[in-house]
Amino acid sequence: MQAQVVILDFGSQYTQLIARAVREQGVYCEILPGTAAADKVLSRNPKALILSGGPSSVLAADGLFADKQILEAKLPMFGICYGMQILAKHFGGVVTGWGRAAHAADEAQTGADESGIREFGRAEVSLASAEGPFKALGGQKTFTAWMSHGDKITQNPPGFRTIATSEGAPICAFGDEARKIYGVQFHVEVHHTPQGKEILKSFLFDVAKLEKDWNPAQFADTVIADVRAKAPQGNVVCGLSGGVDSTVAAVLVHKAIGSRLHCIFVDNGLLREGERDDVEKFLKPLGLNLHIVDASRRFLDELKGVTNPEQKRKIIGRVFIDVFEEEAQRIEAVEYLVQGTLYPDVIESVSVVGQSVTIKSHHNVGGLKDVMKLKLIEPLRELFKDEVRVIGRGLKIPDKIIDRQPFPGPGLAVRCLGEITDDKLVRLRRADSIVREEVERADLATVIWQSFAVLLPIQSVGVMGDGRTYEQTIAVRAVTSVDGMTADWYMFPEEVLRRMASRIINETPGVNRVVLDISTKPPSTIEWE
Ligand code: XMP
Repeated sequence: MQAQVVILDFGSQYTQLIARAVREQGVYCEILPGTAAADKVLSRNPKALILSGGPSSVLAADGLFADKQILEAKLPMFGICYGMQILAKHFGGVVTGWGRAAHAADEAQTGADESGIREFGRAEVSLASAEGPFKALGGQKTFTAWMSHGDKITQNPPGFRTIATSEGAPICAFGDEARKIYGVQFHVEVHHTPQGKEILKSFLFDVAKLEKDWNPAQFADTVIADVRAKAPQGNVVCGLSGGVDSTVAAVLVHKAIGSRLHCIFVDNGLLREGERDDVEKFLKPLGLNLHIVDASRRFLDELKGVTNPEQKRKIIGRVFIDVFEEEAQRIEAVEYLVQGTLYPDVIESVSVVGQSVTIKSHHNVGGLKDVMKLKLIEPLRELFKDEVRVIGRGLKIPDKIIDRQPFPGPGLAVRCLGEITDDKLVRLRRADSIVREEVERADLATVIWQSFAVLLPIQSVGVMGDGRTYEQTIAVRAVTSVDGMTADWYMFPEEVLRRMASRIINETPGVNRVVLDISTKPPSTIEWE
């Protein structure tokens, strides 16, 4: 699908939010690295550009910059934060550094603002004139916005006018009506800027005159037609985990090619209570051709005596690939593999912070593509997770799957600390299903990103009846998050915690203590291993 808007990414943590906000308005957009060459960007024939924020400084020698040819392409442009500063610098305005130390080399030309104010967080913005996308605010004179900047624009480029000001940014929004170029120092894409979506919407439709062309539910028909064209014959395999991505991917492909799709669900013995039955119960009625492979003994045998988290993950990944391949080889003439790759996995990023380290080796079907020489079908590669959910609901996939919390590929193995044994898994499964039941009873399942039990490899003393106990501990972990990259611990209502803890101790043999994990990510991770 052709993007009407290209978002040039300069490394902001909010770039994906911009893309989602644009698509929410019914406009298809794509993200490209802010430093991409002009022909790469312009060959896509965008009708408008958005320049994201970012951590660098246009005053620094190594500050990221857009290819000048792109900025001169006479397209409507909207710069956000750092993106606005790029516009200011390119079109001849003045950007002033914050403090002397940060950009010493450039200060002679720009004049450092030693007494300057950096703005982080909420700020009050005053409108100087309601023009361009600000007309949409209907005469409102001030509003609250989310800021995060050190450098600021102190002089407009020729032809630009100040549209709004704030305490820390004398030119907090500017624009050139004739060239249809606007910039804002604040973040329109975050929900802390309540008017942000109105401003962005007005840029898309009133300034850039775009048309609505994006509706994820209708997009499903395009995907189905594409898959049918891509795989006119031969069989297709799909690893089904029971999660939302693999299920929606499978149902879409099934609509395209029917029983030529074979869905393989591997029971690795590390699933939550009832998970395998749920997959059968919910997915069989959708008509999917399901191959359920019980490989639990094989996984658990391979994991015997293993305590190192990374080693556990590697074993599970390897055995999964073996089992999946063996099952796929039983199916005749397999030519394609379905993967639930999402748009955030395929966005090329600008490298601002260098190489990231591997914290945990993730396991999912992705690892298969090097092993099996199959052609890939990735029906979700243009979609964000929330769009996948919209499509899933349209396909009548039950809410229980669509709203399911993320569950890691290595399953309960990374929540059963130390060596994994059958007994420990029984304990963990029981405690975990109590956490799930209580979260559902309190109607919190979709408020919380993930909530689960972790079985700790320690024993402590307790008293039950008149006897002394020496048993294991369950940690309850519940976090809120938007993408799993960062997370905050979730504070349950007291009565939910009380009921959960007392049920876990009363109903889980071998457990006499419950603790609550109150660590954020970072520095902790969501899973314990
Ligand atoms: P961490 O523990 O790194 O987890 O904070 C971040 C998110 O990723 C999930 N997770 C996985 N998902 N395969 C997956 O598909 C994996 O191997 C895996 N390990 C962790 C985790 O549940 C959380 O949502």
